[in-house]
Amino acid sequence: MKRIFSGVQPTGNLHLGNYLGAIRNFARLQDDYECIYCVVDMHAITVWQDPAALKANTREVTATFLAAGVDPAKHIIFNQSQVPAHAELAWIFNCVARLGWLNRMTQFKEKAGKHRENASAGLYVYPVLMAADILLYKATHVPVGEDQKQHLELTRDVAQKFNNDFGREVFPIVEPLIFGEATRVMSLRDGSKKMSKSDPSDYSRITMTDGPDEIAQKIRKAKTDPLPLPETVEGFDGRPEAANLITIYAALADITPEAVLGEYGGQQFSDFKKALTDMAVEKLGPVGQEMQRLMADPAHVDGILKDGAERAEALARPILAEIYDVVGFLNVR
Ligand code: TYM
Repeated sequence: MKRIFSGVQPTGNLHLGNYLGAIRNFARLQDDYECIYCVVDMHAITVWQDPAALKANTREVTATFLAAGVDPAKHIIFNQSQVPAHAELAWIFNCVARLGWLNRMTQFKEKAGKHRENASAGLYVYPVLMAADILLYKATHVPVGEDQKQHLELTRDVAQKFNNDFGREVFPIVEPLIFGEATRVMSLRDGSKKMSKSDPSDYSRITMTDGPDEIAQKIRKAKTDPLPLPETVEGFDGRPEAANLITIYAALADITPEAVLGEYGGQQFSDFKKALTDMAVEKLGPVGQEMQRLMADPAHVDGILKDGAERAEALARPILAEIYDVVGFLNVR
């Protein structure tokens, strides 16, 4: 069976973009693939994380996977730090990836900003650890949001260079799975910016634990323009906020943006915002409630992560042993 790997960082503020762009798809793929879903705590610490918050956020991401419907008996859910082979393979890949490749990564440039000299070395090699995550299991498919495309290209480059350098087809060339209406959800405050965990404004995003009142308030305050809703998707041109809200509705309702406009095109934003609020509460409410229920039982969540780490480790060890042998590490134990 084809194998999937994907990861989510436990950095707090898990939002609608993470859900619609990635986590909801994780659950939808589980009948057709063998899936490995990882809470990437080692990626999280590439920027400062409060230790207690990191632990709580690791449980929160795990709860989101479960609440979204991923079955931990059939598939693997674990946190990255518990399978040391990720770090071990990352070192080898640090010696395969080229500085020139890393210098092209737009996410590093965005995250490091003007203070590049002050960014951690870990943030720079973040995509190399990502390649290790995926290739440690020889995964073939990776469901992610649009923003991870460039990182997956680097994963393909690492696999290709490793295979070439050693003259062996050790790694598959992975395929990104970027699908659904909302592969790039934008900020509610600025339709030209991605919805993100790190935006200083809470009003820029709907988080997975927002209740009906918070959802209603954030949608009410969401930026729009003075015109009525466009009649067709061509009308999205130059209207990023309208495009974003309609796309979010389409994704939540599992219909196309054209179908949304069929119903609401030409109407005022105020009416549409009420419909969007109802839709968001209907679709996100049960997920948020299930998350709260799971997070109230940390021992249960930790048990799932422990079981997942053991099963992930069992898959990873023989693959890492093969890689060590190919690289030429002398096995004396
Ligand atoms: P993270 O935690 O930043 O994002 C988790 C997932 O959410 C998607 N996403 C979005 N999708 C649509 N609209 C948005 N506004 C939006 N914001 C985030 C991301 O594309 C991602 O799929 N680097 C990864 C974590 C990772 C990983 C991996 C992924 C580490 N190792 C191996 C795949 C395979 C990340 O961005 O996480």
